[in-house]
Amino acid sequence: MEPSDAEALWRWNHDPDVMRWMSDGYAQPLSQVRKRLEERPRNAYGEVLYGVEVLTDAKLIGLVRLRDAEPEAGRAELDIYLGEKEYWGRGYGTDAMRTICRYGFDKMRLHKITLTVVTENLAAHRVYQKIGFVDEGRLRQEFRRDGQWYDMFTMGLLEGELR
Ligand SMILES: CC(C)(COP(=O)(O)OP(=O)(O)OC[C@H]1O[C@@H](n2cnc3c(N)ncnc32)[C@H](O)[C@@H]1OP(=O)(O)O)[C@@H](O)C(=O)NCCC(=O)NCCS
Repeated sequence: MEPSDAEALWRWNHDPDVMRWMSDGYAQPLSQVRKRLEERPRNAYGEVLYGVEVLTDAKLIGLVRLRDAEPEAGRAELDIYLGEKEYWGRGYGTDAMRTICRYGFDKMRLHKITLTVVTENLAAHRVYQKIGFVDEGRLRQEFRRDGQWYDMFTMGLLEGELR
């Protein structure tokens, strides 16, 4: 991700459809998003962030991240979102998930990748299950949106389980 990607990131973060099932924190001005990208530490074991690009259109459509990895634990937490909605439902999320998981297992030698997803986020849950993630627990009333509480699944994928 480059500082020049700030405008796209800012736009995605202010799109209620994209952020529907994601923690959005406090709104930030574009200048702050750009500063954050400029000052972001380089990718390293503890946090790796990559843009998801459609090769044929040379267009940035989202991002994937592995974070909170520790070599002793061999485990990392995964985040994904595609901010360009017209690219949803075309297999890019599945492809990006497979790629970043392969990267985690092969390059970082992780043993396990975990994530959390709001139980109502059916498309995301479907993608995660499709590539091998399994539900490991249900966090009751973990996510609040528009005055309502929702449960979340914690999911896990072990080395060798990626499909
Ligand atoms: C979740 C997300 C990454 C999925 O990416 P995508 O490119 O749209 O996903 P894909 O096209 O690879 O696959 C979508 C799958 O969900 C299924 N799906 C879509 N809507 C669905 C619904 N309402 N109910 C059940 N399944 C649904 C599709 O049929 C497809 O499964 P299939 O291949 O078995 O047919 C993307 O939509 C996104 O970034 N959404 C907004 C941010 C977000 O929610 N991120 C995840 C936070 S945990």
